[in-house]
Amino acid sequence: MLPMSSSQAIIPPARIGIIGGGQLGRMMTQKAKRLGFRVAVLDPSPGSPAGQLADFQITGEFDDGARLHALVERCDLTTYDLEGIDVVALRALEKEGHLIRPSADLLELIQDKFGQRSHLARHGIPQPEFRAIEGEATPEQLAAFGYPLVQKIRRGGYDGRGVALIRGEADHSKLLPGPSYVERLVDIEKELAMIVARSVDGDMKGYALVEMVFDPRANLLEMLLAPARVAPEIAQRAEEIAMATVECLGGVGVFGVELFLSKSGEIVVNEVAPRPHNSGHYTYEACVTSQFEQHIRAVAGLPLGSVEQMRPAAMGNVLGHDEGGAGPPKLDGLAEVLAIPGAMVHIYGKAETRPFRKMGHVTVLGQDLEEARLKALKVKDTLRIRAGEQR
Ligand SMILES: Nc1ncnc2c1ncn2[C@@H]1O[C@H](COP(=O)(O)OP(=O)(O)O)[C@@H](O)[C@H]1O
Ligand SMILES: [Mg+2]
Repeated sequence: MLPMSSSQAIIPPARIGIIGGGQLGRMMTQKAKRLGFRVAVLDPSPGSPAGQLADFQITGEFDDGARLHALVERCDLTTYDLEGIDVVALRALEKEGHLIRPSADLLELIQDKFGQRSHLARHGIPQPEFRAIEGEATPEQLAAFGYPLVQKIRRGGYDGRGVALIRGEADHSKLLPGPSYVERLVDIEKELAMIVARSVDGDMKGYALVEMVFDPRANLLEMLLAPARVAPEIAQRAEEIAMATVECLGGVGVFGVELFLSKSGEIVVNEVAPRPHNSGHYTYEACVTSQFEQHIRAVAGLPLGSVEQMRPAAMGNVLGHDEGGAGPPKLDGLAEVLAIPGAMVHIYGKAETRPFRKMGHVTVLGQDLEEARLKALKVKDTLRIRAGEQR
């Protein structure tokens, strides 16, 4: 459907299209539906987590121009829950007058991590030192940049796939093929993140700075603490950097800004996601407006909601257990976890579990952050998803 004018707000019962039917799309769907919107989802897996809740799902790949067209033309507004979408097809749809937010141009900029770094550098955003790699990475190019370094593929990386830590020549066997760039290894004290929303009018709101703790085996978020346990000056500086980052991107929607605090107290931007982010799941229960509702409000041209955090929160992902491989999910320990006051369980409804696959998450609200953290550790030891028998 073609909008009357792109400056007009999209209001219920308009239909919002979501490209990507994973957990982010699922939670966007829940919040969009609460407001009274209708929702359609495009995803390659029939019965995707978001597709289960949407009015309908179109089953297709994210680079299938015909399927993208089929979704967008049936919706008043289209957004997405992942970055790996064919931007040429998206831009063509925009040219036809369809409303896509954030825009195809912005998505294209963010898809290429080197392009993203270059853009932020032009706007003076602090980042690790970085350099382009011409062609395949060679020992000479790496030595010229100096060790230790991090090599990153320019496109398509996620959950640490696409990132290689190269401490010296002995690590050259770990080099990633294809277009990449290198950046300085940061001596990380803490990984931080901030969710920032930007409206159609350029109004911006930032949620509290949060702290991410990573599982070194899988390079996945182990636990998230909101707010971050850092000195007020650090939080303020990080928040300024995150807001400036989203401002210079100029997009519309919710953005997840990942930051590093180095051991020497420096704050740099790692990367930006043009969508709700794992580090903002806690907002679903802990904040007045969740990041998912905020994203819907922003892209629909509606006013942003309050980002106030009502209670300290800890959040842990529920990952597919690494024993037992892949198969239909079997959940253990749910009753014990639901008996913990303040623990809120989200299970995404994925048809198959795999080792370290994100199958759900649990947010724990506490009177204080330490109480929430301790309860979240208990949740982590109690709730298990492993592959069960085929039904
Ligand atoms: N320059 C760096 N210095 C130190 N650690 C890094 C650096 N870049 C990435 N990492 C580590 O690798 C993880 C994944 O890198 P990231 O660029 O965020 O890729 P992904 O898209 O997979 O999330 C980060 O969360 C951080 O732990
Ligand atoms: Mg990352």
